[in-house]
Amino acid sequence: MKSAPNDWPGVVRAYAEYLPVDDSTPVITIQEGNTPLIPVPNFVEKIGGRFSLFLKYEALNPTCSFKDRGMTMAMTKAVERGAKVVVCASTGNTSAAAAAYAARAGVKCAVLIPDGKIALGKLAQALMYGAQTVAIRGNFDQALNIVRQLGEDPEIEIVNSINPYRIEGQKTAAFEICDQLGRAPDFHFIPVGNAGNITAYWKGFLEYHKAGKCSSLPRMFGFQAAGSAPIVEGHPIENPETVATAIRIGNPASWQGALDARDQSNGFIGKVTDEEILEAYKLIARTEGILVEPACAAPLAGLIKTLKNQPGVIPADAVITATMTGHGLKDPDTAISASGFEPVRTDATHEAVLAALKS
Ligand code: F0G
Repeated sequence: MKSAPNDWPGVVRAYAEYLPVDDSTPVITIQEGNTPLIPVPNFVEKIGGRFSLFLKYEALNPTCSFKDRGMTMAMTKAVERGAKVVVCASTGNTSAAAAAYAARAGVKCAVLIPDGKIALGKLAQALMYGAQTVAIRGNFDQALNIVRQLGEDPEIEIVNSINPYRIEGQKTAAFEICDQLGRAPDFHFIPVGNAGNITAYWKGFLEYHKAGKCSSLPRMFGFQAAGSAPIVEGHPIENPETVATAIRIGNPASWQGALDARDQSNGFIGKVTDEEILEAYKLIARTEGILVEPACAAPLAGLIKTLKNQPGVIPADAVITATMTGHGLKDPDTAISASGFEPVRTDATHEAVLAALKS
């Protein structure tokens, strides 16, 4: 079936010349990508900065996270080689994307998630898209180990970011940022969990630079949650904890990719506490009307911390981008508890509502 004439074709077709595809590749797409790059001047003013900050709002992908970019590519290649089943371990967003793209492709999907530790919206997505959903009594790292074993069966394709096609798809976000800005940013801030995305962005910036599409490269600044910060601590964390369940990971698969991105870009990987994450999470919602999931607030908290602790690192005229990886509505429980408010209940009369508003 043909697309409507003005339709965006999805990231695989849009950036085909940089991806392992040709005209005969059976692209599985839900028109992911082409997400907005939103300026956030109120937030910058509030945190006392003078630079320009733009948020790459990946929440507006079809399953409301950046995972769709990698999943369109991974699912396309899985279908091309005739895989019958796709599997992944996930803190929630990868499973949502895998389930959706598998539904679109007509292949079976099984997802392994840490029982009780994924946000409600993400669980709803996996179930609704029809994935076989297995909640293990364990964490993400344990789930990924099991998935690696399942993937030894040739009929099964792993669609975690240990699948190199995931990284290929996700690098398109760096291309889009350069296309939207008309240049590369000076700094790129990003949350780090399993470390696939920071690896993918750096690959994307490098490839665009090499192709002559941008004349400079950003410094990559990644942030982990303090209770789940193996890269910062320099060793795996056996029992990672954080309110930002998306990045509750103790032994990232792309650890080396994150170190390369940091070192080659003269960048930085730091950690922020749950308290700092929740502060930034509220601040971006209340100053800009942008609701993100808690993991996205890690780089925002990291930016605040960098301004405070390392004055002079960020020049006043810097152009900064930050990836907002997933939608805040995926985790309504954290949003409601972090908001600090409750609805005021009243009778359904004008007087009662007026009284409530004045109280
Ligand atoms: N932000 C969100 C919202 C995520 O879901 C993830 C990872 C990250 C950031 C970190 O990205 O792993 O490439 O460093 N979520 C994975 C998942 C682990 O299973 O959904 P990363």
